[in-house]
Amino acid sequence: MAETTLDVRHLTKQEAYATLEEQLDSILDGIDDPIACMATISCVLAQGFGHLWSGFYRVVAPSLLRVGPYQGTLGCLEIAFGRGVCGTAAAERRTVVVTDVHAFAGHIACDSRSRSEIVVPVFDADDRLVAVLDLDSVEPSTFDDEDARALERIVARFRRTRQAGPYER
Ligand code: SME
Repeated sequence: MAETTLDVRHLTKQEAYATLEEQLDSILDGIDDPIACMATISCVLAQGFGHLWSGFYRVVAPSLLRVGPYQGTLGCLEIAFGRGVCGTAAAERRTVVVTDVHAFAGHIACDSRSRSEIVVPVFDADDRLVAVLDLDSVEPSTFDDEDARALERIVARFRRTRQAGPYER
């Protein structure tokens, strides 16, 4: 594999995501191991954007998320569905964009420098929630609809995989 990670911070969001999506398609072509995909996506997003935290929480039991592959400062180990931004996205099976974490009741501050956040649900081939993708930024209002749509496209590859439970429907 001749790929090296790319820093896309000098590009527009549209160009940045197009670049990283193309790179991920190339690197992960034929790879359906979800952990390998999660680790690679975390790496490419972290190196590309330099956010404080980029990674996954996996569904490991009914209504329970546990930290998965990530890059960044130490993440909390487990999050119950309904708690924090990650738990809200998991419980509601929808992307949650938080422009100011201080204004989000119940936000879990794993790193006090976090100011804004996006969490995207990850589904498998059977439409089961298997994880959430979480990006945290030290700047307020980092993420918007453009990030949401792009990150949803990036995690759509997990729709091609089936995982050995447990699952949350
Ligand atoms: N802030 C998240 C918790 C995860 S970490 O920040 C890595 C939340 O409120 O769900």
